[in-house]
Amino acid sequence: MRKIIFNSFSISCKSQFYFCIFTHTGNCSFRRNLNMKVRVFFILTLFFSCSLIAQDGFRIPPYLQNPAPEAMSILWFSEGSSPGYLSFWKNGTQAKNTLTSSPVLAGTLAYPLWEDTTLFGGSAPFPPYRHRLRIEDLEPFSNYDYMVVQGADTFRSVFRTSPLRDTSIRFMVYGDSETEPESSGKYSNWPDPLTGESRDYLVDQTMGYRNNLELIRSRDPDLVLIAGDLVQHGGEQRHWDEFWRHNTSAESDQSLAGMVPVLAALGNHDYYEGRYLDGYKQPGSERAVNRYLTYFEYPSNGSSVEEQEGRYYALKYGPATFIVLDVCNNSPDGSDEDTNFYLLGENDPEGGHAPDFGIGSTQFTWMEEVLAEAQGNSLFTFVVFHYAPYSSGPHGYPQGLGTGEDYLTGVPVRQLTPVFMQYGVDAVFSGHDEMWERSEVIGVETWPEGKEESHTIHFFDVGTGGDGLRGPEAELVNPYQAFLVHADAPETWEEGILLGGGKHYGHLEVDILPLNDSLWQAILSPAYVFPLWSKEDSAYTGYERRLYNDRVMLQRVSVDSVHTSVGKLTDALHLNNFPNPFHTSTTIEYHLKEPSMVRLSISDPAGRIIRYLDAGKKSQGDYSVEWDGRGEEGYEASPGFYMISIETTSGKKQSLRLIKQ
Ligand SMILES: [Fe+2]
Ligand SMILES: [Fe+2]
Repeated sequence: MRKIIFNSFSISCKSQFYFCIFTHTGNCSFRRNLNMKVRVFFILTLFFSCSLIAQDGFRIPPYLQNPAPEAMSILWFSEGSSPGYLSFWKNGTQAKNTLTSSPVLAGTLAYPLWEDTTLFGGSAPFPPYRHRLRIEDLEPFSNYDYMVVQGADTFRSVFRTSPLRDTSIRFMVYGDSETEPESSGKYSNWPDPLTGESRDYLVDQTMGYRNNLELIRSRDPDLVLIAGDLVQHGGEQRHWDEFWRHNTSAESDQSLAGMVPVLAALGNHDYYEGRYLDGYKQPGSERAVNRYLTYFEYPSNGSSVEEQEGRYYALKYGPATFIVLDVCNNSPDGSDEDTNFYLLGENDPEGGHAPDFGIGSTQFTWMEEVLAEAQGNSLFTFVVFHYAPYSSGPHGYPQGLGTGEDYLTGVPVRQLTPVFMQYGVDAVFSGHDEMWERSEVIGVETWPEGKEESHTIHFFDVGTGGDGLRGPEAELVNPYQAFLVHADAPETWEEGILLGGGKHYGHLEVDILPLNDSLWQAILSPAYVFPLWSKEDSAYTGYERRLYNDRVMLQRVSVDSVHTSVGKLTDALHLNNFPNPFHTSTTIEYHLKEPSMVRLSISDPAGRIIRYLDAGKKSQGDYSVEWDGRGEEGYEASPGFYMISIETTSGKKQSLRLIKQ
């Protein structure tokens, strides 16, 4: 039915166009001689056109893309071919501007014949029209209202431009939403950490993802990043429809992507056309990825190969640079340097355009340049890509098809770690193994002037967006593992109801904020959506936000725009604490023989910092700080051994062991 409407609609637009010419030309002789019949004909045509415009509306309501300090792109998809109208105005002002879109038929989003015949009985909707407008000449880090009118539909929301310089920001990152309509009623396998037994998770994948996004929205982030595997099958249009159903909404207060730019990295599932289509084969995989590229818009990576635009990119956002890579494929295909045994990309015979990521590749060379720039210009550098390089899950095995091997492995991406280390990447966000695991790699950051500093990179698998909730492989040890939900957040049950712990859908919330004039911190909080149940009738009652006990706090010194990591070690320092052992609180004293940046922290026996007590620029002298025996989140630390450490810019690190009773 819709197909007929579309065809008539484009004809009617033309009729309306002619009608306007005829009626709006004041001295037109044709108009003077117009007889009644013709008038009636045109009036009917106008009526017909208007009724068809009224039937036009959003297929996907408007959403934000490609944020910049002075610009923002707004995209939407419509049922019909009529232009849409975007109005915007700075929050609190009346000066409204209006832009008109030029719709383009999004042929890449056509339902594959298989979907059309098998699932729509041959009547799948026509592809939608793509609308894209870039608003320019905006003011940095400012709020704007906007409104889009498309046919009979109107959408109103707000957006915030990017900050130009170091400003407090919050962003969220998760992976592996893997949407598909079939997620409703599908419960992920949720292996029992104690027995390894396979169980169904407590809520289905649709509810898991929906709650996760609702929680993200409620925390008012500036940006959302997805570490790949957005959809289950990149080539099935219904899976993308489902993704946008979750991320946008006609109701502006329900639309995450309508108020926050959602950016993504490509995952293997986004390159996968589908089980019933061409899978990873070409050109099926390219057809799949072209759906992704139709939806997203990023800063240019300057690639000379047009098809590689949008697959990897860098975004400077206030105090942070995000470098988003495509590590779904590398050449030679099927080698131990490759992540996907079956995907053919650039440099593979009959390959598509999945870019190589290995040393010396075009993407690698570009990455080195943006890493160097980020080291000089940003307080924090974050890298996002799909395949977690350090994992105790099934994708933590090396490449291969045999036992103890994996054909979709993240291990080859480890070749990038030395470069990340050299340029001081702070954290790497990936998914793919869907387990929530954090790994730490320790090395040396090298600054352009040759100065070397000890540095730690935190590698995250944040792939619990809305699909799998996997457990580790029994035979596989990840020597870099610092936290694994499966092992480090034990479940507690009472009368068949989960009271705490366990693996859940979630995301990493990252806050970047200043501590003082020159010291900035990034607080990485692992948030999860904990489902709640009534004790009386075991009915699901909702969810609440909880944090895993693995908050990571990073600090960077910003002095006259020259950013360095917090330095270590001089001997001009004395540290003492009393009482020790202590029960409820203890006083920590230190003496600085010279002015210095200082960071005073408490670590647990595993070396994880659980509390920052003092930080900032201090003059020479005596200082004293009290520790109330609590962690950052306010919980009381359990009895045991802890370390107090003090570090100064000039290089000294001193630690003391203390005992909490
Ligand atoms: Fe996945
Ligand atoms: Fe994946």
